[in-house]
Amino acid sequence: MTHDAIAVIDFGGQYAHLIATKVRRQRVLAEIRQPEDPTELFTKYKGIILSGSPSLSSFGEDSLYNKEIFDLDLPILGFCFGHQEIAKHYGGEVMHGKQEWGRADLRILREHPLFHGLSKVEQVWMSHFDSVAAIGPDFEELGYTILGDTNEPHHFAAIGSDKLRRYGFQFHPEVDDTLHGNRMIANFALGICECRPTWTMDSYIEEQIAKIREQVGDDSVFLLASGGVDSTVAALIFGKALEHEQLRLLHVDNGLMRKKESRKVVEMFTRLGLDQNLHFVDAGETFLSALAGQVEPERKRQIIGNTFVQVFESEARRLDLANHLLGQGTIYPDTIETGGTKRADTIKTHHNRVPIIEEMLAAGKVIEPLADLYKVEVRELGAKLGIPEEVIWRHPYPGPGLGVRLLCSTGRIEDSDHLNELAPAVAKAAERYGLVGVPLPIKSVGVKADLRSYEHPVMLSGKADWSTVQEAAGMIFKSVGGINRALWNLGPKPPRDFQPLAATITRERLDLLREADALVMDGLHRHGIYRDIWQCPTVLVPLAIDGIGSELCIVRPIHSERAMTATAARLPDTLLSELQEQILALPNIAGLAYDLTSKPPGTIEWE
Ligand code: XMP
Repeated sequence: MTHDAIAVIDFGGQYAHLIATKVRRQRVLAEIRQPEDPTELFTKYKGIILSGSPSLSSFGEDSLYNKEIFDLDLPILGFCFGHQEIAKHYGGEVMHGKQEWGRADLRILREHPLFHGLSKVEQVWMSHFDSVAAIGPDFEELGYTILGDTNEPHHFAAIGSDKLRRYGFQFHPEVDDTLHGNRMIANFALGICECRPTWTMDSYIEEQIAKIREQVGDDSVFLLASGGVDSTVAALIFGKALEHEQLRLLHVDNGLMRKKESRKVVEMFTRLGLDQNLHFVDAGETFLSALAGQVEPERKRQIIGNTFVQVFESEARRLDLANHLLGQGTIYPDTIETGGTKRADTIKTHHNRVPIIEEMLAAGKVIEPLADLYKVEVRELGAKLGIPEEVIWRHPYPGPGLGVRLLCSTGRIEDSDHLNELAPAVAKAAERYGLVGVPLPIKSVGVKADLRSYEHPVMLSGKADWSTVQEAAGMIFKSVGGINRALWNLGPKPPRDFQPLAATITRERLDLLREADALVMDGLHRHGIYRDIWQCPTVLVPLAIDGIGSELCIVRPIHSERAMTATAARLPDTLLSELQEQILALPNIAGLAYDLTSKPPGTIEWE
């Protein structure tokens, strides 16, 4: 069946993906499109939503998009930057500097289909420097907000032209803090655009089955099955679509798995009744020798991705699989973070998006039934397919596994002058919170203003409560450039001196990380909080601290829903005490720290 659909034009804002998800929650198909896409591509949609953007509309930034979309006879709704562009296009004005952040009360001026079923005052969420200062002749103001306690109206928070079917919201209805944002999105998609709500997870499964059958024909699919929720859901969909002999699953132990992980994965596929299709290969040696001597994070990622393809091809030959397609459980964030959309920077190359796989994709040799979905949707799909709860709620685990959690180093400090410059600024900012702050002589990957960063973390130590260290971290990110992560010392005394040590990926280091990671995972289960925490990487960094040990161990619990943003999660004090005792007792461990960093400015993984 074909569905009525909405196009979401992604101007590079943080939440473009979220808009699409929220439209799909209304059972209307939503697809992400680029601002330069040709006009013809939009005619199949019933409406268009323009996302926000990191660019400033008032300065004319990002103004070179395809404006012919405004000539289409389709309803268009803009959020934030999109709202300002609509105002400008139809004769209004945008000004810089009248900003609003966070919650605001929207006063709705009259009954309007966009606000059907809502109150006269609605809580909305703002994040903007620019505002609409005047609207064109065909437009009317539909709502305004009040600035702080001044009682001064901040005009044009919602505007519209029923004649042109163009609307704009300065606020973000797609974020949960706009309490009835879902209703507003429904009013647009179902009401104004008259989309039929036919898109359901069941219909998604049916469509994917039909698509798979069409693409695969008489050939077969060889699916890389890590045992994570994405590839497991993909395996079940392929299983429904294809004849038994057309589906082969390949589980690769790349030597970068968690403790006893591969054994558990094989057991899980057996429980799901897919053991007959499953092949297991222990390729630890191949991966470790390919990674030997490597230090640079992106290089490590490329090598791991390429080695997956190499192992896959050699297993396909060994099993004599002719005309097979590579199956993957790729989800949308994997593509966007790899810079897979025009405006997106490469934050990190996901293992399933290395260039060789991109080439195979272009040649039609890859099949990915989940590529438009986010983790929340995959989990929903998993539940529909009857996957057991413990599999659905497994923490996400990156394809390159411990390879991106075991940091490597040449042992040299390449930018000691820069570090020396950072040190006093960091110390001063930390002191305001009664803490000692030291920048560390290593780097990790982060994302700032939608761009990749590779910068130093800061170690904070001293006695303080959770909210104080959180605030201190936030202040350091704001006031000191060149810092993208903040750690909180969990070691027995404030560490002073950090020496980077030459280290690459070795079995011995991996085994140590596996032990530390198993202690953390076990702790989360024991305290009954495994499901409350979205993901909790454990990381080793090759540092001697005050002349002792060779690895700083970091615990990174986070809350997230879609992995595009995250906040540090708080662990119970009793669990932290247990981890201090257990992890600090492991061989070579020089210290233990808690990662306090949100995403942005850090990413969830360290590399
Ligand atoms: P970051 O570190 O970019 O990660 O905040 C976002 C989410 O993606 C996971 N991740 C990966 N998943 N292949 C994957 O399948 C990869 O190469 C990869 N790198 C990161 C990460 O664990 C987090 O859930």
